[in-house]
Amino acid sequence: MTKVLIATVKPFAKAAVEQIKGIFDEAGYEFSFFEKYNNQDELIEAVQDADAMIIRSDKITPEVIAAAKNLKIVVRAGAGYDNVNLEAATAKGIVVMNTPGQNSNAVAELALGMMVYQMRNHFNGTPGSELKGKKLGIHAYGNVGKNVARIAKGFGMEVFAFDPFVPKETIEADGVTVFDTAEEMYANCDFVSLHIPANKQTIQSINFALLSKMKKGATLVNTARKEVIHEDELLKIFEENQDFCYISDIAPDNRALIEDKYADRCFFTPKKMGAQTAEANINAGIAAANQIIGYLNDGITTFKVN
Ligand code: 3PG
Repeated sequence: MTKVLIATVKPFAKAAVEQIKGIFDEAGYEFSFFEKYNNQDELIEAVQDADAMIIRSDKITPEVIAAAKNLKIVVRAGAGYDNVNLEAATAKGIVVMNTPGQNSNAVAELALGMMVYQMRNHFNGTPGSELKGKKLGIHAYGNVGKNVARIAKGFGMEVFAFDPFVPKETIEADGVTVFDTAEEMYANCDFVSLHIPANKQTIQSINFALLSKMKKGATLVNTARKEVIHEDELLKIFEENQDFCYISDIAPDNRALIEDKYADRCFFTPKKMGAQTAEANINAGIAAANQIIGYLNDGITTFKVN
């Protein structure tokens, strides 16, 4: 019998778990939920006999791959797969997939929610300001960026985007104005919202050269990955641009220092929670389960990333 391990340090919502169980029951697969585990050693132990895995931000290291003797497919229930060592998986013929778009509305809603929270002075009772009429620059116009644009327009924001990988016409069709360079967008917007993946090209790419272009008092919003930020240079910006704000769903390594020095100008969620909604968990969880069955039963490789 095919064995699926659903390894999630951060468990799926109950409703998602029920639906995933239903899908595997119907397919006649054996499955187990391995949630809230404490370390990589426990994961290495748990994967030994798995044919397939569903994960979230769980780290699939070469050691995990080596331990998983029967593994044929890993599906990252979510968008970013920077937590999976693709080289090690590919070398063993293991297919890696993601579930693009399934949790993007949840992430987009959080981005706007954090913006409101910041503009209303962390709900401290003092007069803040509104999003209406402000300029929002979306850095990378994928599934999340597109949802951010839709919601921001509801707030009455002026929406811009920079994405060299998406045709200008596609973005413009959403009523979003395209900047040809990131620099121009950073220089012109009141908010910049990051939706780039973390990869060799983007790690530490949000640096002083770019952030120093931002307007006085502008806000950087990060619901993507902390690794894309050049943290030392971010600190320099906090010092130089006196009203610069940074709000993020993925706290920086130097969180304590930033919170201590610039309490009013930053906000970090206690735990990454962009995709932490029942809806996102259900969408991504169901997609992941169906993709595993589709691959193992019928060889379907849509959403394969390696
Ligand atoms: C993603 O890449 O899909 C998001 O960052 C969600 O990550 P999570 O599943 O760990 O919440």
